Amino acid sequence: MLESSEGIITIATTYSQDGQSSCCTKGRRMWRIPLSDLNYDEAEQQAVLEVLGSRWLTMGPRTEEFEARLAEFLGVRHVIAVSNGTCALQLAYRAVAWLRGQAHSNAFVIVPDITFVATANAAFAERLTPYLCDIVDAETPGLSPQEAESVLEAKQVQAIALVHYAGFDCGAEYFAAVSKRHGAILIEDAAHAIGARTIDGRALGTIGEVGCFSFFSNKNLATGEGGAVVTNNDEIAERVRLWRCHGLSSSSTQRHAARSVGYDVFDVGYNFRCSEIVAALGIEQLKKLPAANARRRELYRLYIEALRNVEAVRIVWGDRPELLENSAAHILPLLCETEALRDRIRAALHEAGIQTSHHYAPIHSFTCYRRAAEERNVCVGKIRNATEFARREITLPLYPALSDESVSEICSIIARVAKGRA
Ligand SMILES: Cc1ncc(COP(=O)(O)O)c(C=O)c1O
Repeated sequence: MLESSEGIITIATTYSQDGQSSCCTKGRRMWRIPLSDLNYDEAEQQAVLEVLGSRWLTMGPRTEEFEARLAEFLGVRHVIAVSNGTCALQLAYRAVAWLRGQAHSNAFVIVPDITFVATANAAFAERLTPYLCDIVDAETPGLSPQEAESVLEAKQVQAIALVHYAGFDCGAEYFAAVSKRHGAILIEDAAHAIGARTIDGRALGTIGEVGCFSFFSNKNLATGEGGAVVTNNDEIAERVRLWRCHGLSSSSTQRHAARSVGYDVFDVGYNFRCSEIVAALGIEQLKKLPAANARRRELYRLYIEALRNVEAVRIVWGDRPELLENSAAHILPLLCETEALRDRIRAALHEAGIQTSHHYAPIHSFTCYRRAAEERNVCVGKIRNATEFARREITLPLYPALSDESVSEICSIIARVAKGRA
């Protein structure tokens, strides 16, 4: 590693003998402590080489193996591997509309205002109308039960998209019951939550009618791009498999294996296929996931401990050990007393070469969603807590290879800035 005068480093692409060192693009300017890092070693390299050697690059035996392993890990009947988490959501929304026989009816889907924009964008793509609801309170970023229930009572809601923010259970069992009571369907956006559970031990993503995962580069299980739809509903699984590949009656892999030609088209679908390279990476990443998530939780606890006496900041769910214990600890969200303090902490960390992020700007604040709200293509609920949360949140580095010493360094910078109120 080469350190520059700005505290920003350039890292060569290498793995140490113990497989612990990080891998970054040669010659790119990087943070001294990045926000996230891949948990990769020779196993992933070998898996990719084997795919290249197999001379079959998409939707083949590795995709099937990844789906079977993930289904077993989650304890769910069906896993359909797809190109990314956004198209997993799109397929889930379409399945919901199809299941209710109301395809393309402009019905509402409840979406929390604090989430990655994909949760709402995918609903638009399937001609559903997002209803942006508030979060629990200004320090708790899960979907507000009160607001969700009042929207369910007042509107024709087809689905709730429940986001498990930071990989913590945001009320899966509760919203499953509420949606059933109101004749809506629960979709879990579990993009942050692979390997997380409810306190009763049920895998997040498997409690609603459909669950969606993302395997984007910064996720706990990272394959670059990649995602999965999971469900216990046989009909949904059959439809989603069909739509994943243009509604074709057979895949090119099946035709290759059976030496047959030709296919029928049963329904209008998409190309949301999963590549064999992604699946091979997914198989390796899944093997590492339990230990990697355990290390993330350990680091989360270290942050909580180190900042316990800093009154002006608080870690989201830092006082809920029972939730943390079962979470995937995907990101480390810190709430500051004021927006000004948040900005000072961010500046001090960046000065020290430490990357931070923000999860998230509320969806209602984006230009395109403001316009959609004016045109009544989206409904905006109370959103006061979401706005307040977003003003004060900063996301700190969290990944399995992050050292205890780095957490201490990050927290002492935060403590210095917070205590000095400088
Ligand atoms: C909460 C949430 N939903 C959906 C997505 C979309 O996943 P992808 O980037 O794989 O399309 C993400 C990705 O960051 C996410 O964080």
